[in-house]
Amino acid sequence: MTNSMPRMVKSVTLICLLGLGGCTTVEQAPSTDVQLEEAPAVPDPGTLKAVMAGIAADMDSVHTGIWAEDLAQVERAATSIAGHPHVSAAERTRIQQLLGAEFRDFVAGDKRVHDAAVSLAAAAAGNDIADVLPALGDLESGCVSCHTGFRAQLTADE
Ligand code: HEC
Repeated sequence: MTNSMPRMVKSVTLICLLGLGGCTTVEQAPSTDVQLEEAPAVPDPGTLKAVMAGIAADMDSVHTGIWAEDLAQVERAATSIAGHPHVSAAERTRIQQLLGAEFRDFVAGDKRVHDAAVSLAAAAAGNDIADVLPALGDLESGCVSCHTGFRAQLTADE
């Protein structure tokens, strides 16, 4: 019980961060007062997790733009992914220490996603959905490839 509550609170906080609603749920949960005090109100913006949450929000915007046939929105969101905020120096050091020699592959994975986001933005600027979809596929493959390769190692110490 002591373990499950903070986890719930944490996921509610993330939903809040992604702008998917749920902030009011946090405010309307007085019975969890004690656990809320223990959980940080907002995750440190310099953590990988926080950077990823921002990228995921941009990715939602990419998808919404595609369904709305608003390729200018797709271009903006892809550009934002390409220029995503960096992790803090402390977080970078933590990742480097956990990955050792593999850190280089991690950086390469980040660059791959950066380049794919730039290509997606260019495809969206060309205003042809037929070019946008394959570029989006490349970008998402890059996300998943890094998650498959590194996520388990980097979340193990939590
Ligand atoms: C360079 C490697 C790398 C790339 C590229 C990458 N991710 Fe991640 N991502 C991670 C790692 C590692 C985690 C786990 C972080 C943690 O739990 O602390 C993660 C976690 C996440 C999470 C979960 C955040 C949470 O709160 O648990 C989301 C969502 C996410 N990534 C989205 C994306 C999207 C979308 C892309 C592509 C546009 C992407 N990531 C590209 C490494 C990467």
